[in-house]
Amino acid sequence: MNQKVLVFLLPNFFFGIFLFGFFCKRQKNLTGVFPDPTAEWLAIQNDRKSTLASVCLKNNFRKLSSKLDSYVASRLFVEHKHKFIYCEVPKVGCSNWKRTIFILQEDLNTEASEIEHDQIHQTSVIKKLDSYPPARQKEFLNNYTKVMFTRHPLERLVSAYRDKLLHSEPYYSITIANEMKAMFRKNKNSSEKVSFQEFVSFIISRRPESLDIHWKPMFLLCDPCNIHYDILGKYETLGIDSEHVLRAIGAPENLQYPSLKRYSSEKRTSGAITLEYLRQLNSEQIEKIMKMYQMDFFMFNYTMEYKDYFSLHD
Ligand SMILES: *[C@@H]1O[C@H](CO)[C@@H](O)[C@H](O)[C@H]1NC(C)=O
Ligand SMILES: *[C@@H]1O[C@H](CO)[C@@H](O)[C@H](O)[C@H]1NC(C)=O
Ligand SMILES: *[C@@H]1O[C@H](CO)[C@@H](O)[C@H](O)[C@H]1NC(C)=O
Repeated sequence: MNQKVLVFLLPNFFFGIFLFGFFCKRQKNLTGVFPDPTAEWLAIQNDRKSTLASVCLKNNFRKLSSKLDSYVASRLFVEHKHKFIYCEVPKVGCSNWKRTIFILQEDLNTEASEIEHDQIHQTSVIKKLDSYPPARQKEFLNNYTKVMFTRHPLERLVSAYRDKLLHSEPYYSITIANEMKAMFRKNKNSSEKVSFQEFVSFIISRRPESLDIHWKPMFLLCDPCNIHYDILGKYETLGIDSEHVLRAIGAPENLQYPSLKRYSSEKRTSGAITLEYLRQLNSEQIEKIMKMYQMDFFMFNYTMEYKDYFSLHD
């Protein structure tokens, strides 16, 4: 091939590639509604926010006073360097968020796995909002990026049961377990573990406000009707939502949300495992437990058709 031909062909070759790329892009635009994943993610965020807002409105959960509930303030973690406020919802990846906050504020170049589970829950180096005077709390709430994460209410419930009642943390496996056994067992000394049925019967006999944080309804922990969260993350989309949170607060590029699990040899509570436990309940228990968590279902758009839900998500 002589050089003249090559000079002529090369630009055509590149123009061809350009055209090909252009049409591929167009094709995508025609089939999907969203030109890029970020726009799609933002649209989902908007859906989540408008669903939440309409449920709050319908149920009159909006408070007129702007005073922050002190209980909720004690659940909000503050990270000043990145102006980040995180509401802790146990069983929804909160240990890993606390690890991440710790790394952010200390400018650590550590792997999250080097931070022990117990250390992160006992450590007082992560500040809570209620440790500041009310005026400052308000200022932080106005200016910081506020984030909360939710999870399907029944999957969270099963996860809490497996984590707290089937392991040997003394407070749960003795104190709380004995309280539950005392309600349902003739032989109060029986060493048999609390069954999932007993656990659910105990929960539905209580008022939602009085429940332990691991199974208290999520909306009572974070008051999303009055705190306007900038990002509503879900455990079901934890990877992409965490990534967006980290970019939104300007975290270092190389920082990733960890995927550590406390009892790492055990399987994560999945839809299939959740369904297995739910099958142990009778229809009255199912109805009552749905009612207990109905606001979480409505506000965060989880379906009550749990059989469909969990078969879809496995
Ligand atoms: C609610 O969730 C369903 C599926 O889980 C989804 O298809 C729908 O778009 C969501 N609705 C809103 C308003 O977010
Ligand atoms: C925080 O927001 C308030 C308005 O709510 C503003 O007056 C103030 O300057 C902001 N503070 C910081 C530190 O950005
Ligand atoms: C329960 O245990 C206590 C002491 O551990 C014992 O005195 C009591 O007899 C036991 N009761 C039953 C019903 O086994």
